[in-house]
Amino acid sequence: MNQAATQLHVAESFLIQQDWDAYTPEQHAVWAELVKRRMPQLAEHACEEYLDGFHQIGLREDSIPNLAEVNKRLGPRTGWNATPVSGFLPPDAFFEMLAARQFPTTTWLRKRESLEYTPEPDIFHDVFGHVPMHAHPVFADFLQQYGRVCSGLMHDKDKLERMGRLFWFTVEFGVIRQKGTIKLYGSGLISSHGESTHVINRSSDGGPEIRDFDLDAVLNQEFLVSEMQKVLYAVESFDQIYEAAKEAEHRLA
Ligand SMILES: [Fe+2]
Repeated sequence: MNQAATQLHVAESFLIQQDWDAYTPEQHAVWAELVKRRMPQLAEHACEEYLDGFHQIGLREDSIPNLAEVNKRLGPRTGWNATPVSGFLPPDAFFEMLAARQFPTTTWLRKRESLEYTPEPDIFHDVFGHVPMHAHPVFADFLQQYGRVCSGLMHDKDKLERMGRLFWFTVEFGVIRQKGTIKLYGSGLISSHGESTHVINRSSDGGPEIRDFDLDAVLNQEFLVSEMQKVLYAVESFDQIYEAAKEAEHRLA
């Protein structure tokens, strides 16, 4: 059934099963609260592709996603799977999974006391934040290409750091111009009310400067994980980041 999983070598020891029946009513209630808090803002400010993907993969407000059910819908669309893993992956395992169209997905959920922020990704960040975009064919190809390029750069820390910036300013904090306005697609924005509000109200809130996406600029743009973003890069279409990932391969080879 899951053909891509058989291709994994380095990542294999990190794969787990999601014990969906073990989630408690309180955990489902926390998920529902998280989704309810994010959806009104996202309905207006998320990109069309995210909102479309959310429905395509069958995410619901009332219960934590069952990854097997998500994959039944996602797999036939783009070949991606949300694959349960035990936690944070080392880079070689992470990139190997991306190159195999397997998105490493945590299964734990934050507690009610930390609705807005968790230092490590949980299933809300990973599935609500990331996975809907994997239903979009061009984004799907981009992310696999990104994993392939990085897998080939494991020997070079400096180049990997530059590729990390491409991930940060697209997959995590990417924005796109649609119908003349800035829309959100990066998971760090999608899953965080604070980060999104900072972008949406940027002119009155001292939020980030939004520059046109440029591969060289992104590869050279340092960032801090622990602070609100000061600069973001807007694409005009997802073709642009797919082309950028291909170009990065030539640029950094
Ligand atoms: Fe993420």
